[in-house]
Amino acid sequence: MKLSWLADNNQPIAVADLNRVGVHYEQVDTAGDMQPQLDNLKQARGYVEQDIIELTPQTPNLDTLCDKFKDEHLHTDDEVRLVLAGEGVFDIRSADDQWMRVTVEAGDLLVVPANCYHRFFLTPRKHIRCVRLFKDTSGWTPVYRESQV
Ligand SMILES: [Fe+2]
Repeated sequence: MKLSWLADNNQPIAVADLNRVGVHYEQVDTAGDMQPQLDNLKQARGYVEQDIIELTPQTPNLDTLCDKFKDEHLHTDDEVRLVLAGEGVFDIRSADDQWMRVTVEAGDLLVVPANCYHRFFLTPRKHIRCVRLFKDTSGWTPVYRESQV
């Protein structure tokens, strides 16, 4: 995981800044048996659904798909992603409404909590494969922020 403030405010940034807005981060050994660690998280946080999503340059309508998540939005369920391959960029609002840029890659497990504004992009490689966990798939509809800072 790479972590930085999007604006150059000369302040250090750490996982603690993510934790302050309820973001959970842990590392997972994706070369080993990941399921016990995922099961622990599911039990601790009430996730019941699990699937795998993969986006590649060959994914049909990739740009349209990605456009849904590039604008600032939140979900009424947690957004849980364990990256298995590729990479992605989450911009997450800090406690004082600045953007925290989180670039995730294989082994990064990130939970963006429900009702936390964020946006998501692929990197120029346009490839990511992730495990997703859900409490309820109906919580997955993005709710867009009306006015963006
Ligand atoms: Fe999202």
